[in-house]
Amino acid sequence: MLTGGAAAAAGALVAYAPQQAISTTTSKAAPPVAGGSAVEPFHGVHQAGIATAPQAHAVFVGLDLLPGTGREAVVRMMGLLTDDARRLTQGRPALADTEPELAALPARLTVTFGFGPGLFAAAGVEDRRPESIAPLPGFVIDKLEKRWTGADLLLQICADDPVALAHALRMTVKDARSFARIRWTQRGFRRSPHTQSPATTQRNLMGQLDGTVNPQPGSADFDRAVWIDDGPPWLRGGTTLVLRRIRLKLETWDAADRVAKEFTIGRRLDTGAPLTGQAEHDEPDFDRLNAVGFPVISEYAHIRRAHVTDPGMRILRRVYNYDEGLAPEGHADSGLLFASYQADVNRQFVPIQKRLAEADLLNEWTTPIGSAVFAIPPGCSPDGWIGETLLA
Ligand code: HEM
Repeated sequence: MLTGGAAAAAGALVAYAPQQAISTTTSKAAPPVAGGSAVEPFHGVHQAGIATAPQAHAVFVGLDLLPGTGREAVVRMMGLLTDDARRLTQGRPALADTEPELAALPARLTVTFGFGPGLFAAAGVEDRRPESIAPLPGFVIDKLEKRWTGADLLLQICADDPVALAHALRMTVKDARSFARIRWTQRGFRRSPHTQSPATTQRNLMGQLDGTVNPQPGSADFDRAVWIDDGPPWLRGGTTLVLRRIRLKLETWDAADRVAKEFTIGRRLDTGAPLTGQAEHDEPDFDRLNAVGFPVISEYAHIRRAHVTDPGMRILRRVYNYDEGLAPEGHADSGLLFASYQADVNRQFVPIQKRLAEADLLNEWTTPIGSAVFAIPPGCSPDGWIGETLLA
């Protein structure tokens, strides 16, 4: 019976082989698609995924270290995760990759790591935690849910292709799970570069152009606003991330008319131009009054409340839409994964959020339901690992 079985198996292999050859030939004949094999560099002074032009898909994963996971274990985990990211982002399978074929088309995959407050305590480096890497102060608008709030470790995975993203998520989480448990997973999306030029400002699910006033990568203002160069030595070349999950009340937003919607933000819906201008990038004129003497851009309009005059003190908004499906009555659970990067959370993010919490017309339709803060360590060299400046 054994011999018969072996012979049958051999027969099956022989029968299978030509088919394999045919299917490979067929796929080789297909013209290559540039987007799939596009690669973002992994090594460098900064981690990728921040100054990188936003990819179409993102998943943010918050993990909590398992009890008893100390410095040595965190070092081992970061070594493994860096190795996964280094390979996968360059279109190479992870070590012991169970689906190596899925790694071949990274589609601008980036994997970015962040350290939450709890990691510093667990690794015995609490004295190196910047003061602002802590839960944000409470804001009156907050309705934070525990299931979307805080975490010791962040994996931010972005790619232009959802399969590349799912594969990288699976490979990295496999390596992380001996050290940590998942606290939350937040998925988001934007228009893909195959749909719309990346030079175009994206629209959020409220229909607004979102990202007009933002530091521009490569500029001196961007470097000053985003990268840390005078903070703790281990964090130089790094940054910080505030991730807020903001639910949108789209049903009542739908009930507002266009004039009210534009008044709320202070910009037009079609062009994104300020209410005092013609084109998206015109400077808003906050002093202009209308015929009856009221400001054209309201005192409570979102762009007035959020405005920061010094461009080097702005925040980098790299936001993603989320849409988790429909409740039985047909209402969407959707909103914005508001990812804000800045050199200093307390000096840059908190004052803006305070002004918005005090009085922003947009608050009528937006509710922060999750909040987490992370230090984003600098990048690493080909023989280094992310986190080495803190933990080595
Ligand atoms: C769901 C919530 C939010 C929505 C839908 C939203 C939407 C917008 C829109 C449409 C603009 C104008 C276009 C642009 O410059 O991008 C804008 C500007 C801005 N938003 Fe928000 N935003 C939200 C939450 C926040 C939060 C939480 C912050 C910071 C704490 C923030 C900070 C800013 C800043 C700094 C600007 C630029 C202001 C300027 O013109 O100088 N936004 N936002």
